Amino acid sequence: MAKQLYIETVGCQMNMLDSELVVASLRKAGYVVVDTPAKADTILFNTCSVRQHAEDKIYSALGRLKHAKKYNPNKIIGVLGCMAQKDQKLIFERAPYVDLVVGPGQLHQIPELIEKIGQGAGQQLEVSLDRKAGSREEIEQSFESYDPLRDPQMRPTPFQAFVRIMIGCDKFCTYCIVPSVRGPEQSRPAAQIVAEARQLADEGCREITLLGQTVNSYRHTAAGHTSRLSDLLAQLHDIEGLARLKFVTNYPKDMTDDLLAAVRDLPKVSTYLHVPAQSGSNRILQRMKRGYTVEDYREMMARIRETVPDSSVTSDFIVGFCGETDEDFDQTVELVRESRFKNSFIFKYSERPGTKSVQLHADDVSEEVKRRRNNDLLAVQNAISEEDNQPFIGRRVEVLVEGPSKAAQRHDDGSEQLQLVGRTPCDRIVVFDGNRRQVGQLLDVTVYDANAFTLFGSIVTAHVGPEVYTL
Ligand code: SAH
Ligand code: SF4
Ligand code: F3S
Repeated sequence: MAKQLYIETVGCQMNMLDSELVVASLRKAGYVVVDTPAKADTILFNTCSVRQHAEDKIYSALGRLKHAKKYNPNKIIGVLGCMAQKDQKLIFERAPYVDLVVGPGQLHQIPELIEKIGQGAGQQLEVSLDRKAGSREEIEQSFESYDPLRDPQMRPTPFQAFVRIMIGCDKFCTYCIVPSVRGPEQSRPAAQIVAEARQLADEGCREITLLGQTVNSYRHTAAGHTSRLSDLLAQLHDIEGLARLKFVTNYPKDMTDDLLAAVRDLPKVSTYLHVPAQSGSNRILQRMKRGYTVEDYREMMARIRETVPDSSVTSDFIVGFCGETDEDFDQTVELVRESRFKNSFIFKYSERPGTKSVQLHADDVSEEVKRRRNNDLLAVQNAISEEDNQPFIGRRVEVLVEGPSKAAQRHDDGSEQLQLVGRTPCDRIVVFDGNRRQVGQLLDVTVYDANAFTLFGSIVTAHVGPEVYTL
């Protein structure tokens, strides 16, 4: 019988892509994917360290597996990704029944490591070199990626795929663990990215989202020619079969005019820009070492609005960062009010061991104040999201159909007619009634209602009117 794999993924899109690649390699080794840990021969957690909460979730999931091996001593339990890189041996100490700890740069070794464990080799640990443990070149080599092994069945839909264009990050924002767990910033060769996108398009993929921690810092030189993100988008735009191109996450300082012109001029590129501001206070931005002022951010917003007026912009914010006063927070609220983001992801500051802010500043904003600021900022943002969705009522939008809506998934009776969900080019979610065959298609939908998070519409049916005879 085929071996059974259960995999759980938390964290960002990088992790979703990594899980897809891990599953692809294990399927080649004879595994099938199952949806509960109870049945599985191998249980993998692909983890995130960006906030304490993400780590706690995994440690408690591991805690629940304490007795899992009583019934099946051959069961293999593995911890992959960012927390594996960060905690390394500590994971074996906290959960001695874990067999496998693999950092994000070593995921391609998993089939081999699982085989070794099966042969009785005991616990396996594979992680990259620490950022200070060698020359830049050695450290870069220890963070490998193995992207072309794709697996359509592990993607949220077969029509949408992530393509990594960079790994790592060199920005070192003081609060952030990512540079130490994902290693140095490295851009992939443009030719490799284009080849991967072509393969995906040939497999029926319609939408590609390019991934990088600071995706618009992409820069790769080969044979004396440097490609930037705008050049890459132009090349990808020519691939037949692809209908949409997106890219996340943008770094405010690298939002250059050539990139905005590419978004304006290339029709397949979504008019959607995720450019986290993090704070509206210069004092806090400086403490975060973000490398820009709120005036720079405003100037960037003005250029976006001028070059791509119909674009939607989204942001991330951290509330309650070290030393954040009510005045600092008010400035963040002000920035959200004037920027009119489509939506914002708001996080309470979570101190990460080993980051610069731990050395430099005290985590001195109380949990209660963090929670209140989080709720207050979210309320301001949600009111804007709702207001800015209203003008869509009565408009016709182009939607890439992603699949059954959440409600339809809950009550799936297998019928052909069902409620579908898709997105506009500016990344707004649209819910409408349709047919299973329409999944993966680009359709015109007329919007008849809207709330802060969703547009509701009906498919525009192209029908031939009655013939008119003139006498
Ligand atoms: N590379 C992306 C973001 C990566 S992490 C960028 O630079 O924008 C995703 C988001 O998590 C960040 O934008 C930030 O808002 C949040 N985040 C990162 N570290 C955090 C921490 N220590 N506490 C709370 N939120 C954090
Ligand atoms: Fe973290 Fe800053 Fe790099 Fe984003 S740019 S991953 S927030 S260090
Ligand atoms: Fe988390 Fe690692 Fe992504 S820390 S946010 S999964 S890069």
